This record gives sequence, C-alpha cells and structure tokens, in this order.
Amino acid sequence: MPTIVFASPKGGAGKSTSAVVLACELARRGAAVTMIDADPNRPVSTWARRPGRPEGLEVVADVTEETVIDAIEAAAARVPFVIVDLEGTASMTVAYAISRADLVIIPSQGSQLDAAEAAKAVRLIRQQERAFARRIPHAVLFTRTSAAIKPRTLQHIRSEFEAHGVPSLQVQMQEREAFRAIFSFGGTIDGLKAGQVGGLDGAMKNAKAFAAEVVARLRQAQPAEAA
Ligand SMILES: Nc1ncnc2c1ncn2[C@@H]1O[C@H](COP(=O)(O)OP(=O)(O)O)[C@@H](O)[C@H]1O
Ligand SMILES: [Mg+2]
Repeated sequence: MPTIVFASPKGGAGKSTSAVVLACELARRGAAVTMIDADPNRPVSTWARRPGRPEGLEVVADVTEETVIDAIEAAAARVPFVIVDLEGTASMTVAYAISRADLVIIPSQGSQLDAAEAAKAVRLIRQQERAFARRIPHAVLFTRTSAAIKPRTLQHIRSEFEAHGVPSLQVQMQEREAFRAIFSFGGTIDGLKAGQVGGLDGAMKNAKAFAAEVVARLRQAQPAEAA
C-alpha cells in the first residue's frame, strides 16, 4: 500500500542508495516490495540485474513521465510497499511521483549547500500539496554522515529545517562501505561477506533502524491502516 518516494534535485544526495537499502530491509522483514526505477540512468534496475536481489523485491523499470502514475498505482494495489527512485532533477516525473506519495524522503548530506537543494524539494512538495489539496508527509534524511562524530553543522541544519516546519528522520544513513558495495556486488547488505567489506554489522544496524523509523512514520500518517 504505502508509496515512499525518494526525491531531491541534487544528484549524489543518496536517493538510490537509501532507496535500495530500505527496500532490501523491508524485504528481509518479509514484506513484498516493488521498486519503481524512474531515473533514466536506471541505477536500481542495474543493481537488480546483479545476483542476490531478495525474492520479495521486484523492480519496475523504464518508467517515464507518461507512465509513472500508472506504475505507482498498479504497484500500490498489489504490494504492501512501493518505493520510487527518481532522477536528480526537477521534472514532471518527480512532481507526479510526489503527488502519489504517502511519504517523501529527501536525502541530503549534512552541509548548507546540500540543505539548500533539499529545501527545493520541500518547496516542490508544498506546491503539490496545494495542487492536490492533500497533505504529503515528508522528511529529510541525512546521508553519508559519520558514525563516529556528530558535527554541529548537521545539528544546526536539522534545527533550521525544523524551524521551517520540515521534519528530519532521527536515523541517518551513515557513510558505509557496505552501502556502496551492494551496487558493485549486487544483493543486500546481509548477503555481503565479511571478507568483501568491513563494518557489516554497523551497516545492518543502520539499515534496520532506518526501516523501523520509516514504518513508524507511515503508521503515524495513516493511523487507520496501521490498526
Ligand atoms: N550512506 C552512504 N554510504 C556510502 N556511500 C554512499 C552512501 N549514500 C550514497 N553513497 C554514494 O554516494 C554516491 C551517490 O549516491 P546515490 O545514491 O547514487 O545518490 P543519488 O541517487 O541521490 O544521485 C554513490 O557513489 C554512492 O555509492
Ligand atoms: Mg539516484
């Protein structure tokens, strides 16, 4: 049912990485997940063609401006989680996907320049809220953060967003080799071998906490359906 859309006009913000990590963790928990690859560069489809994709996770590729709404609606009628990965531009595809979202996640690295790009995504979401006369829950996800230190810059950016009514997820996507490695080797974090990549336990813990917070937020937004 719920549709989770990863959006940010900034290329390299961590959309595709975070989307695949979330999808894999939901699938590992036993849910059927459909990923919609609406980026013409097809990062998710390329990942999915490598070995190790979870059984319960299907990828719909070649989704365009003309087909994105149909693709989302068809998937949402079929599976409990739909995850949409978008390209890093402002396009009709992005606007349409946001209009169908139950939660928009806006990945952003913890710098002021990146936050300005994230703010553009927030403006687009607010436009879509007005255009469609409905609330579109959204939250910033800080990506590529250090597992070891908590920089003040990030805290400052978080509180600035908050002051403007933009929530951010408590969980951050830490800078982890494992999150890069799944795109090289294919498959999921728990499918990687300790000899291939270090820090697997930390990455797994991060992925679990991320998925748990996303599911909790979806429940908050749709109290009736969570019952
Ligand atoms: N949490 C992370 N840890 C390590 N590398 C990351 C992380 N998130 C993204 N990256 C790397 O940053 C680059 C951009 O990430 P990507 O997910 O493709 O961003 P986007 O989809 O927003 O363009 C890629 O090289 C990816 O491997
Ligand atoms: Mg991407």
